[in-house]
Amino acid sequence: MSTATLNVTTVKADFPLLGREVNGHPIVYLDSGATSQKPRQVLDALDRYYEEINANIHRGAYLIAEKATTAVEDSRAALAGFVGASAAEEIVFTKNATESINLVAHSWGRTNLSEGDVILLTTLEHHANIVPWQQLAAERGVVIRWIPLDDDGRLDLTDLDQLLDGVRLVAVSAASNVLGTLPPVRRIADAAHAVGALCLVDASQWVPHYPTNVADWDCDFMVFTGHKMCGPTGIGLLWGRRHLLDAMPPFMGGGSMIQNVTFEGFTPADVPTRFEAGTQPIAEIVGLRAAVDYLNAIGMEAIRQHELDLTAYAMRTLTERFGDDLAIHGPHDLENRGGTLSLAYRGIHPHDLSQVLDQHGICVRAGHHCAKPLMKVLGVNATARASLYLYNDESDVDALADGLAAAGDFFAF
Ligand code: ALA
Repeated sequence: MSTATLNVTTVKADFPLLGREVNGHPIVYLDSGATSQKPRQVLDALDRYYEEINANIHRGAYLIAEKATTAVEDSRAALAGFVGASAAEEIVFTKNATESINLVAHSWGRTNLSEGDVILLTTLEHHANIVPWQQLAAERGVVIRWIPLDDDGRLDLTDLDQLLDGVRLVAVSAASNVLGTLPPVRRIADAAHAVGALCLVDASQWVPHYPTNVADWDCDFMVFTGHKMCGPTGIGLLWGRRHLLDAMPPFMGGGSMIQNVTFEGFTPADVPTRFEAGTQPIAEIVGLRAAVDYLNAIGMEAIRQHELDLTAYAMRTLTERFGDDLAIHGPHDLENRGGTLSLAYRGIHPHDLSQVLDQHGICVRAGHHCAKPLMKVLGVNATARASLYLYNDESDVDALADGLAAAGDFFAF
């Protein structure tokens, strides 16, 4: 029984872009896994920032500079609350989730890992949670091991104990950007801790869609990005346990991140300033705060329930309508997946499929989704991916189904 209280008609009206037409059709935006659309409330917050308080932060002793500084620190506190952090200082602003992972790989990794140490990744990771570790492995002789998938696209944890031998860090996505799979993060974090390893969670595809609590996961680092959760591009986040962040050296050097600089050297500032070199993306931080307020006003539990219902509808509709002509990669039980639907349809190349869908105003992503190792395991070069969010409804799913049928007709021979 659904407990959703989300009114999609009202939500859709908040997003100006969703009112436009594409190729003569009302837009059907099904690519929120790549980036979400932005509500008027976020766009207004960006305008208000630039029109009323634009100034650099942590520097000026004049009114608008103080207001800009307060807005940034209030945003940090709001984001800490949004993900269940115990203190605002545990939130570090970065450019995106990729930069957050690079920060941990450079700062924690290069301080703590040496030849023979093992990092455990999963087969469904995005390149952002692979390449920084491969760079570290090449530099330090660190070994990378992989948790495999079962036939349904879930993590196969049968051999987890053996895989954890010698591991210092487990880095896992909370939600796959390709399969929608939701790995059991708490179980993995517990297993990592049992062998003295840390656990980093890439929550880029989780935080926009579900209530998030780092204490429930009991992880050590968590990264996510603003632009997939109704916020602006150019702002990402790292959450880390305070004692770990305190022991980590700066990632980038420059203005703002120091306590003192002399001709001989420098002493870094405290956490989180130590990791925030140079002028920050102030407007984007303020815009992200507006996104958090927006999502909180709707309620993350209502968003979760809405997407669960819509994912069930999408899987039922597509399966009933196309039968064996259509495969949906990844788990089929809703317990283990979110609303990211990677499709294979009648042997039509995903790029061709997405081009025909575009002619009907339907936006999906086609390609390897920055997960080439996973593509290899799936035995495909690419998929056509439809990803659902709070502003999608059954009419969007129906339009996708009609678009697929049209593509089937177009490529029929
Ligand atoms: N990581 C984003 C995606 O999956 C860009 O599309």
